[in-house]
Amino acid sequence: MSNIEYNFDSIIDRKNTNCLKYDALNQFFGEDNLQPFWVADTDFETPNFIIDKIKERLEHPALGYTFKPDNFFQTITDWQKRQHQWEIENSWISTTPGVVSGIASSILAFTEKQDKIIINTPVYYPFYATIEGLERTILRNPLKLQDNRYQIDIEHFEQLAQEGAKMFVLCNPHNPGGTVWSKKELQAIGDICVRHNIIIVSDEIHSDLILGERKHTPIASISKKISDKTITLMAPSKTFNIAGLATSFVICSNRKIRTTLDRTIYAVHIHGGNLLGNIACEAAYEYGEEWVGKLIDYLASNCELAIQFLKQELPELKIMKPDATYLLWIDFNAYGDEKEMEKRLKEIAKVALNKGSSFGEEGKGYFRFNFGCPREVMIEGLNKIVSAFKN
Ligand SMILES: Cc1ncc(COP(=O)(O)O)c(C=O)c1O
Repeated sequence: MSNIEYNFDSIIDRKNTNCLKYDALNQFFGEDNLQPFWVADTDFETPNFIIDKIKERLEHPALGYTFKPDNFFQTITDWQKRQHQWEIENSWISTTPGVVSGIASSILAFTEKQDKIIINTPVYYPFYATIEGLERTILRNPLKLQDNRYQIDIEHFEQLAQEGAKMFVLCNPHNPGGTVWSKKELQAIGDICVRHNIIIVSDEIHSDLILGERKHTPIASISKKISDKTITLMAPSKTFNIAGLATSFVICSNRKIRTTLDRTIYAVHIHGGNLLGNIACEAAYEYGEEWVGKLIDYLASNCELAIQFLKQELPELKIMKPDATYLLWIDFNAYGDEKEMEKRLKEIAKVALNKGSSFGEEGKGYFRFNFGCPREVMIEGLNKIVSAFKN
């Protein structure tokens, strides 16, 4: 393997590459000429230890069906142990083309139409689309705001559990808040799920991007009882900027649950995977540890800088400091209503941010800013926002 390169400051032109973040602006925002800080996709180069492996494979002239070698599973198992001190077994892992398709497969495998599924709101918007698209009923557990930080309302969660919920879809760490849930909170909701026979589907896609002191706890690592009820979903896509390769995985220690879930994954026929995605995933976890460490340092500095700058220039914004991810959840309510802010961001600042209400009604008036980009790009975007709101 060649030496690892760290090019977080390098600005790459992603336009005209069928890049969702840049090339689909018109489709999502009705305008092309915006600087994008929306979708959770970084602007960093995919690391060279992944690109090199893909190039090596492309030297071969045939790209037929593929299967995953033992080492694919071993790298995931080793990564979980190193990063999260979570001991899993290779046989607990299945693959899906995405975390969201893993959530959908879990819903299909363990619930019926109209069954109740709990989510903590506001939350990553495909949770709504997937649950409602499959005609299940959402039970909302609104997050509590304490010192500008989200907390899970445990009492309300228990009430919802008593209403006959069949499943709980958790976002851990949380998107959009970037919250790393405490072990205590996770244990409390995990125990409630155990008591009420609720399956936990834990989306832990952001778990490798922990910026601060708080440690990520895979909910399934807390106790055997909770693990027995949990399907964990993870992927290297956010961390290594390989979301376009559509490769993610499911971890489940409970053989019965795993077998039932696998049956659905096989029935829908999404187990096979993507030849290049599998190679990328294996390389990411085999060689990526140091690179991720440096990425986290870079992101943490971006985060600090963005918060300080916005606080100083636009003191009425309320900014949630994320424990994880590269997403800043900003409350613009002091500056006007959401529609007006949306217009100002688009028409005056010329930036594209995710609108808070798309994460649920509790997010109204917030916007989500993606700082997973070279610092120079981030500063340019922040300056545009500040000018648009100062005047
Ligand atoms: C919490 C969360 N889950 C899942 C995804 C997407 O997962 P996938 O592309 O693997 O379906 C994202 C992407 O932004 C996310 O933030």
